[in-house]
Amino acid sequence: MSTQTPTLNEIVALAKRRGFVYPASSIYGGLANAYDYGPLGAQLLKNIKDAWWREFIESRQDMVGLETQIIQHPETWVASGHVESFNDPLVEDKVNHKRYRADHLIEAWLKKQTNPPKIDVDSLNLEEMAELIKKHKIKSPDGNPITQPKPFNILFETHLGVVEGEKDKVYLRGETAQGIFLNFKNVLDSTRVKLPFGIGNIGKSFRNEITTGQFVFRTFEFEQAEIEYFFNPKETDWQKLFKKWQDDMWQFVTKTLGVGEASLRWRRHSNAERSFYSQETYDLDFKFPFGFKELWGLAYRTDYDLKQQAKHSGADLSYRDPYTHETFYPHVIEPALGISRAFLMVLVDAYKHDSTGRFYLDIKSDLAPYQVAVFPLLKNKPELIKKARQVFDKLKGDFRTTWDDRGNIGKRYLYQDEIGTPFAVTIDFDTLEKGQVTVRDRNTTKQEVVAVEQLAKYLADKFKQT
Ligand code: GAP
Repeated sequence: MSTQTPTLNEIVALAKRRGFVYPASSIYGGLANAYDYGPLGAQLLKNIKDAWWREFIESRQDMVGLETQIIQHPETWVASGHVESFNDPLVEDKVNHKRYRADHLIEAWLKKQTNPPKIDVDSLNLEEMAELIKKHKIKSPDGNPITQPKPFNILFETHLGVVEGEKDKVYLRGETAQGIFLNFKNVLDSTRVKLPFGIGNIGKSFRNEITTGQFVFRTFEFEQAEIEYFFNPKETDWQKLFKKWQDDMWQFVTKTLGVGEASLRWRRHSNAERSFYSQETYDLDFKFPFGFKELWGLAYRTDYDLKQQAKHSGADLSYRDPYTHETFYPHVIEPALGISRAFLMVLVDAYKHDSTGRFYLDIKSDLAPYQVAVFPLLKNKPELIKKARQVFDKLKGDFRTTWDDRGNIGKRYLYQDEIGTPFAVTIDFDTLEKGQVTVRDRNTTKQEVVAVEQLAKYLADKFKQT
């Protein structure tokens, strides 16, 4: 079995060919950096979100969920610091005026050097980037000189109502996290939570990214699943809690999503890179086809956000301990996952060839868009179709089941391998005569004869083992 990381082109081609991801607005020639999820992609995306929600919200006694608005009161983003400093370093090609992120051009330049200087690009400030660009005469990808880096705010602005003006200016949220802080008091007042506890929020966020072009890795519109875990810093050791979150995140990626540990690493932010309000930040990076990049951020944001939102809104966002009656602002640890990146990771990690060169998607059965495919051996035999329909109807209540009667069985297997369906069930003349079906395993291609009566249990047992 080959476990080599596929190229991004291979992933993009598979995603389009099999209906995971399509370029958005393609009948109009496409819209830069925008993607729609096709029938299989939408299901996979939902399965990842459901798994996250189940693991971090439903199955924990110390967590609750929220679903908050994309557009909140605009002061939210002034309070959070996004209006002032949600910036990326912008440079422009002096000849054709194409725009780039300065740090990305420096990274690309470093990769091309035989003896690259040791530079932590993520920690560079604007002046340091400007100096490097000048010293090494770093050019645009078209070989032209570039301007000095300057801050570019990536928060999306829009207007509410019919009149356009400063008064109606609002923002599409740049993160789902602020919706949690805005509702902190509502949750305290309406539920029975007590510290330490967390609030999860999942949904679309928007960033006017300068550099894009790595498929769904970095897009203008994307999904996040974020948690703010609130605690009393006098009672809870933040370092232990931070470590526990690292373990929980690792467990979700390796066990629940089934991703290989060799493709994962932790990266600690340097002091220069870390946001000023954060006391500790780590990224859980995945080895994407373009290198190790951030999948999931973990930050200790202290009481910064609650205090900021309280200051700007005038609301009391403090916590009163029900036993000691002490009143204070809780601190938070924030695990912030990009769902679109988790989706890309699952596809990349599942992309496999066996020793014969056969390609298959090794997706965990919980996540696979379809878990079982039902094939009638021949489509012009009504008695086979009838029996296959009965099997299909029986399975579809318990499993995500698909039907395929096109082409020969070998082609149907290849198709199901490509979309990651763990099992294919063929209904043939033995089904009619002996009540048996053939079940074929996606990963091993081994086939087993199973009694129709035992089929649902057989599949459920197999899924438990994976
Ligand atoms: N509330 C903290 C926060 O938003 P972040 O590191 O900026 O932190 C969290 O974002 C996660 O959201 C990232 O780890 C990444 O997976 C995802 N993400 C951020 N920008 C993205 C983009 N433009 N496209 C896709 N995913 C993105």
